Amino acid sequence: MKNVLTFQKLKDTGEKIAMLTAYDYSTAQVLDSSDIDGILVGDSLAMVALGYENTYNITIDEILIFVQAVSRGAKNSFIIGDMPFMSYNLSIEQGLENASKMIKAGANAIKLEGCNAHIIALTRRCVESGIPVLSHLGFTPQLMNTLGGHKIQGKTADNTEKILACAKELEKAGAFALVLELMPAASAEYITRNISIPTIGIGAGAGCNGQIVVTDDILGKFTDFTPKFIKKFANVHDIVYEGVNSYIKEVKEGLFPSEKEAFSLTEEEREKLNAVK
Ligand code: KIV
Repeated sequence: MKNVLTFQKLKDTGEKIAMLTAYDYSTAQVLDSSDIDGILVGDSLAMVALGYENTYNITIDEILIFVQAVSRGAKNSFIIGDMPFMSYNLSIEQGLENASKMIKAGANAIKLEGCNAHIIALTRRCVESGIPVLSHLGFTPQLMNTLGGHKIQGKTADNTEKILACAKELEKAGAFALVLELMPAASAEYITRNISIPTIGIGAGAGCNGQIVVTDDILGKFTDFTPKFIKKFANVHDIVYEGVNSYIKEVKEGLFPSEKEAFSLTEEEREKLNAVK
């Protein structure tokens, strides 16, 4: 079974880390039967599973339901619960309390976005309390308003150095790995070379120690928008659409359900029903 130590071992041996998101029981079951290194119950579920415009509206109580579902479906996987907007920003106590709810719901670790004095202190306190922390730098969706939108980060050497300085602080505080989102490949690769913990890229090129993407994006299930960094490995939307249309057609034509999908009555009981008529 993979655990928090797996990540450093993979970086040290040079094997790439492959991670995906899951929000529900049946997707978690599929991932659990694969070789995936970690499953993130990301706050992206706000858009992908709940139809919100961004991640701001999902609450800790809502995300806990999804963490529970994923942990029931992925009993042998390393699960990371994404701490939603403002569920950890108010105080260390608030962050610790909500992080502990994630663990009680079945997560093995949590993810925290950003890097200020509070996040660094909270990372340290979580790790000291037995809660592994996956950090998240580069583009951080929960800070979208202060970043001025979906903007690529680390576009200059200066900015990349600033992100690296943050990464080193989080590493010192005990983070076991670091997500780098939406960065030029060379910048993410530079950060990866200069910290000891593994980096997991999303839209950050091939130089990271691993990759994470939203499962519904790479399977072509979520179609509201497709980021440039997404490659489609399947087209689930079309498969579902075709299946649904075939079902409708067969119901309309009286072909479904057929005898094969129906329960039968004994001849004797059928005769009784006919006699009543
Ligand atoms: O919420 C999310 O899905 C994420 C990504 C890193 C995949 O944070």
